[in-house]
Amino acid sequence: MDIKNMKDRFEQLRTPFYYYDTGLLSETLETIRRETAGREGYHLHYAVKACANPEVLRLIQQAGFGADCVSGGEIRTCLENGFRADTIVFAGVGKADWEIELALEAGIQCFNVESIPELEVIAGIASKMGKVADVSFRINPDVGAHTHGNITTGLAENKFGIAMKDMTHVIGIARQLPSVRFTGLHFHIGSQILLMDDFEALCHRINELQDRLEADGIKVENINVGGGLGIDYAHPDEHPVPDFNAYFGTYARHLKLRPGQQLHFELGRAVVGQCGSLVTRCLYVKQTESKQFVIVDAGMTDLIRPALYGASHCIQNLSSTGPVRTYDVVGPICESSDVFAKDYLLPETRRGDLIVLRSAGAYGETMASCYNCRELPKAYIN
Ligand code: LLP
Repeated sequence: MDIKNMKDRFEQLRTPFYYYDTGLLSETLETIRRETAGREGYHLHYAVKACANPEVLRLIQQAGFGADCVSGGEIRTCLENGFRADTIVFAGVGKADWEIELALEAGIQCFNVESIPELEVIAGIASKMGKVADVSFRINPDVGAHTHGNITTGLAENKFGIAMKDMTHVIGIARQLPSVRFTGLHFHIGSQILLMDDFEALCHRINELQDRLEADGIKVENINVGGGLGIDYAHPDEHPVPDFNAYFGTYARHLKLRPGQQLHFELGRAVVGQCGSLVTRCLYVKQTESKQFVIVDAGMTDLIRPALYGASHCIQNLSSTGPVRTYDVVGPICESSDVFAKDYLLPETRRGDLIVLRSAGAYGETMASCYNCRELPKAYIN
């Protein structure tokens, strides 16, 4: 749907707010369904950290996704919004005891374990509760993804996962613990990845590891390759739905699944990124000696990606068709990094104009904060 057609509705609402386009979300979910149909053993878990809006979650759950959670809060939210516990995988380097208890109580599918101390704590808690925890090990494959430094996760220097060379040893430890059951391997090399070569490199690393583990007599039921597929931030209208054909095709071609082995994905951004926009209003146009600023009522508290990662979002003025001018688009927060874009071309902008930041469906609302005692942004969904 053309966001410009939303102008009349947006005019009625107090800014800033998130708006989710469920038509586009349904189209995206349908594309994923089509591209995975007929590929045996493929399972999708939605990475809840990208967007936990209840209505968005419900649509994703109804499309047959499980969930990928990284906190007790996310597990609770998923259970409240219809996800079955046995479709939930639970990752994160710092799982607290109460979160492990909650997950065991609910009966989640699997813990993605990131260290030996964590494995031992899970085993201890499971044993006390009289349960057996299914675990996968998150492996650091040391594959560099071509994306922003703060969102690559698969390099040896990152805090995530266990080194590949230690795997046989770690699986050996798990096998000694009666209250855990080793079921699989988990990977995630980073986020906003647009080069399929990066996912192909991951496949080769997994193939190597599987060969080695097999030689050591270790059988693996599940392979979880994480998420990471990127979206086109520069052209949201040209590419509203990511290239899932290339993505799933890369795994189908390069990953050597063993007979009966199940393949799990944890996509976040690619599912919801293009479906959300942050809608704001121009408060002031401020001219200084060297710059013209459009000061909007949304700030880094509502969408932190530009300030935190230098990310750029496409910005549109829905109210003006005037001649194009160059602006720095900034928020009201008392931080010099509260900038959405520098030297950005917009039609001549005035106080009161509706301004939209596109592709904000992933890591937008979920990363909002109350800094400066601001209210969290509201969300509307069509
Ligand atoms: N699985 C694991 C283990 C992850 O750490 C992540 C994301 C995902 C799946 C989902 O990745 P996706 O498909 O969304 O790329 N806040 C940053 C992104 C952080 C990603 C963290 N992990 C941003 O705004 O770009």
